[in-house]
Amino acid sequence: MTIVASYIGPESIIQKKQEYLIPCVYHFYKKPMQIVRGKMQYLYDHTGKQYLDFYGGVSVMNAGHCNPEVVEKICEQIRTLQHTTTIYLTQPIVDLAEKLAHITPWSLKRSFFCASGSEANEGAALLAQLHTNKHKFVAIQQGLHGRTKLTMNLTGLPLWRTDPNPLENIVHIPGAYCYRCAYDLTYPRCDLKCARYLEDVVKSGDYAAFIAEPIQGNGGIITPPPGYFKLIKEILDKYRVLFIADEVQTGFGRTGEMFAIEHGDVIPDIMTLAKALANGTPIGAFITNDTIASSYTRPGASTTGGNPVSATAALATIDVIEKHQLAQKARVLGDYFKEKLMALQQRHKIIGDVRGKGLMLGAELVKEDKIPAAEETDHVLERLKDCGILAGKTGVSRNVLTFQPPLVITGTDIDQVVTILDEILSDMERKPR
Ligand SMILES: Cc1ncc(COP(=O)(O)O)c(C=O)c1O
Repeated sequence: MTIVASYIGPESIIQKKQEYLIPCVYHFYKKPMQIVRGKMQYLYDHTGKQYLDFYGGVSVMNAGHCNPEVVEKICEQIRTLQHTTTIYLTQPIVDLAEKLAHITPWSLKRSFFCASGSEANEGAALLAQLHTNKHKFVAIQQGLHGRTKLTMNLTGLPLWRTDPNPLENIVHIPGAYCYRCAYDLTYPRCDLKCARYLEDVVKSGDYAAFIAEPIQGNGGIITPPPGYFKLIKEILDKYRVLFIADEVQTGFGRTGEMFAIEHGDVIPDIMTLAKALANGTPIGAFITNDTIASSYTRPGASTTGGNPVSATAALATIDVIEKHQLAQKARVLGDYFKEKLMALQQRHKIIGDVRGKGLMLGAELVKEDKIPAAEETDHVLERLKDCGILAGKTGVSRNVLTFQPPLVITGTDIDQVVTILDEILSDMERKPR
């Protein structure tokens, strides 16, 4: 493969990163490539090599990279009107709000737009405080909610809690991580002890809201068992604590429903959105019902929140998801993929657990006695990449191989990933590291 001259290449990018970026900005792989182009489920590097993308820019590119149906509308909008902010009236922001009111479940109807998932969660938390007149929050130990002061503190995952002066108004409870149950119990005999523990916390304090991802993404695709969110909501309602469902990573068809909380048949009070909402164009939003919305009347503005370009990108993305029935597709393909991963688990004891829903799947890699196989996970990721497949890694110990592809993949793509993963794991068994 010839390297196109205008690309500076991975070594120069790393050099510039080291010189000009804050060192917290890290990247995957010992031998990374420069990504220069995307097309639906594929990415291409500076040498022209094609990669089947099974991570989707961390659950963002649900409609596929550079999907022409989305790109066309963005280009048309950016050529016509890019930005005004909300002090002037524009149409895309209200069309998008109306669309979200129709596609989000139940009574969720009123949106506020911003530019990222962190901002969406920060805004949702403020709204909960305004509405309840209370100031504390409960979150989950393996949850991730953002990078701002408050959302970093709502985050439970130690890796992403950098704040040297943590806030004191937040309590983290164990998640429904059945593979490594905090109470050493087994579902359903556990009687959802992890959910019941919430009551011990909220009954004692001044809690405005509980925030949770319906499936914890960065936590390692931790997927609560049936009945978990129903019980959580009952407890919250009893103590008048709001439920914020963080759908930043799970939303827009990813798990086989438009929103993952729909699997639990529970109505959140506030839902937060970002990532796949505009298929890679920066956007965030929180949405709530009429009653809760009416508590936020003082001026609130986000300069680029809901600007014509991101709102148009979101409308086009939702159109694609609906028109091509990508949620249904994620459900069918996800079931197929999960079955195949579970078959691999039978053959390779390094796969300790397979979990997730739709096309949000994880395979937790372990050694003897469930010791997290973090180095091995890195090795598998690197080998997959060398074979032209991109996957992710998540989990408290960074040992969960994670698959969140664009929802436009095919069954053949899944077969390819499974075959190559099988070969890599077999190789590792033949030549232990
Ligand atoms: C569940 C969840 N919430 C919030 C965020 C923060 O979103 P952003 O990076 O857009 O601020 C993330 C980011 O990965 C996330 O996965």
